[in-house]
Amino acid sequence: MTPYDQQDLRRAAEAAIRAPSLHNSQPWRFRLADGAIDVIADNERQLAVADSGGWAVRIACGAATFNAGLALAAAGTPATVALRPDRGSDVVARLTPAGPRRPGYPELELARAIGRRHSNRRPFWPDPVPPEARAALLAAARDQGVWMDLLVGMTALSGFAEIARSAERVLRRDFAYQAEMSSWIHADAAPDGVPVYAGGPVAEPHDLLPQRPYGTRGRAPGRDFEPEPLVAILGTTGDHPADQIAAGQALQRVLLTATAAGLATSMISQPIEVPAARDQLRRSLRRTGTPQIAIRVGYGDPGRLSPRRDLADVLV
Ligand SMILES: Cc1cc2nc3c(=O)[nH]c(=O)nc-3n(C[C@H](O)[C@H](O)[C@H](O)COP(=O)(O)O)c2cc1C
Repeated sequence: MTPYDQQDLRRAAEAAIRAPSLHNSQPWRFRLADGAIDVIADNERQLAVADSGGWAVRIACGAATFNAGLALAAAGTPATVALRPDRGSDVVARLTPAGPRRPGYPELELARAIGRRHSNRRPFWPDPVPPEARAALLAAARDQGVWMDLLVGMTALSGFAEIARSAERVLRRDFAYQAEMSSWIHADAAPDGVPVYAGGPVAEPHDLLPQRPYGTRGRAPGRDFEPEPLVAILGTTGDHPADQIAAGQALQRVLLTATAAGLATSMISQPIEVPAARDQLRRSLRRTGTPQIAIRVGYGDPGRLSPRRDLADVLV
């Protein structure tokens, strides 16, 4: 098998860094190791308060791994992905060449969506997400080996919204949490963190779902939030580090599937970050296992891409 080289590493890393991460912390690095590509957790970028257990780092690195694998497959050099190949090390995933293969159309379509996907915290249009698109999102999660529930109907949605709001209240009272989050909100052109333009309208929060207070003050110009948002909860049967990495891979596949279908997305993680809320969410879904992230999906005006660090900063 032809080993991966510097060009493959750059291709994989360029795609990987477009993955989402909590507060755009970008907790990853990439290196070539004996002809394979390693995705490494950058623990110095782990959020000490919001992510003391490393869940968000593993979700982000899982999403980055998915992008890396997809970019390699789209270039005709697909990878076999091993999660946590060296137990106890910071290597989250190792991508080993699987032999050249022409990419299929679905891979190419998803790979093309990598550069367009972004978090859209603005109001979405009221238009419902059609059944075919819902089915594609569910299939994307299923094919990655995780479970995902779409909250259908106002009862399920209101139940989730109440859990999310109570989690947000807990986090608002946590001074250290708020201080840490504020340190990641940037008005200038920083290479990481959340730029204020990427936030939602703070003064007019979503009627149902708590928005992260990242945004500029004031009402979103001329439009209310969608009256009945589509929310997906993605989860795993176990909650070990490998499960969280797998959830990150699946999250990215779902987000790219949505982007490819012309849908906008944002993520909601307050109910995951507060243990009591996460438990309540698990019970409300009647699922065994652990919810890992919530995703809001709909049709919206395109937003702007948020910044990323230079490749030179993430290549080892
Ligand atoms: C584990 C995780 C949790 C996140 N939680 C939230 C959230 O609660 N609210 C939100 O608006 N965005 C959330 N995000 C999205 C990040 O803020 C976003 O990915 C990051 O700012 C980069 O922007 P982009 O998604 O537009 O590339 C989360 C992302 C990850 C990976």
